[in-house]
Amino acid sequence: MKITEFRGDEFINREEEIAFLKDWINYIPKEILWIYGPKSTGKTSLIEYVIEKELTSNLKIFDRYWIKYINFRGLMIGSYDSFINSFFEEAEGEEDDFSAEVKAGFNIGVIKLEANTLEKIKSKKKNLFNELIEKLKKINKIKLIAIDEIQTLEAIYYNGEKELLKEFLNFCVRLTKETHLSHVIILSSNTIFIERIYNDARLKLTSEFKKIDHLGKETTFEYLEYKMKELNSSLDKELIWEYLGGCIPLIQKMFRKIKSFDLLKKYLDGEVEIILSEIIDVMRRFLSEQEKKEFKKLAKIIIDKGFFEIKESDSDIMVKIIDFLAQKEIFFYDPLTRKVTGNNRLYEKAFERLY
Ligand SMILES: Nc1ncnc2c1ncn2[C@@H]1O[C@H](COP(=O)(O)OP(=O)(O)O)[C@@H](O)[C@H]1O
Ligand SMILES: [Mg+2]
Repeated sequence: MKITEFRGDEFINREEEIAFLKDWINYIPKEILWIYGPKSTGKTSLIEYVIEKELTSNLKIFDRYWIKYINFRGLMIGSYDSFINSFFEEAEGEEDDFSAEVKAGFNIGVIKLEANTLEKIKSKKKNLFNELIEKLKKINKIKLIAIDEIQTLEAIYYNGEKELLKEFLNFCVRLTKETHLSHVIILSSNTIFIERIYNDARLKLTSEFKKIDHLGKETTFEYLEYKMKELNSSLDKELIWEYLGGCIPLIQKMFRKIKSFDLLKKYLDGEVEIILSEIIDVMRRFLSEQEKKEFKKLAKIIIDKGFFEIKESDSDIMVKIIDFLAQKEIFFYDPLTRKVTGNNRLYEKAFERLY
């Protein structure tokens, strides 16, 4: 495990994932890459780290890449117009991102288009995606479009703009598999949404999945030892692992909050109680008596086996509960293995207290 500096804070581990992404980006684009995993495992941090530290920190290398990282977080995207506005901005002078010459300092968020073109796209006189492909053809660099929090587009899906979403995914296929013009990386914790659009747009042969999970036990212990040395303290590592697993922000928070180390168990129990009231609140407000029973059954299996595996024979009600609780970020559903767990270890500790 390595700890490096990133934006004035520590950046833990992820060597394998960083190497994977660098490799991916330097190979010719052939598939869409979907990065998924429970919330707060560090998907956003990882892609930002790779872009900032590995791809663009050195100006010489920087010249090799054209990168757009767009994070939909906090945006309301429910229509064609808001979709366009989240991607594009009117260029004041030239469309700087598309010029072949090297420019220092680039805008990583939005794609700049000349006013006239943008207007035509907005009024649908020009096809947005065709236009983009023509532009991208002119950039003689390794290109990457990364889109974070893709589930924000869910509103588009339900607002009758389903076709726009399909068109967008089809565009991603054109960029990667068909023309090899640009890499496309899509990130989200919402695997229910990923699975739905993935199946809908029939992306099976054109996608690759990479899971970013909480840290494993060995790495977590290494990190705990490192922190304890730094703070000159000694804590029960097994106990921390039992309650927090390898969830980085939870462990970091614990080190910030705990003043006296005799209070570790009390602190961890307090954390479980907070999650427990969140779960009970969701159960009360949204689940029927029968659904509560089914949920408890699932929770029990997760406690006993470590996971619940979805089978064809499972009842519709079971599958619906899993969908719903995954959307509420209580469960995490892995679409590749079809296994369901708590979103992090604290949720599973809270499941134990449902009885
Ligand atoms: N490798 C890491 N090293 C240090 N901190 C991390 C790391 N990964 C995530 N974090 C911290 O955990 C928090 C959640 O990470 P984030 O990237 O937002 O997760 P995600 O995008 O998977 O939901 C952030 O505050 C970030 O600082
Ligand atoms: Mg994120």
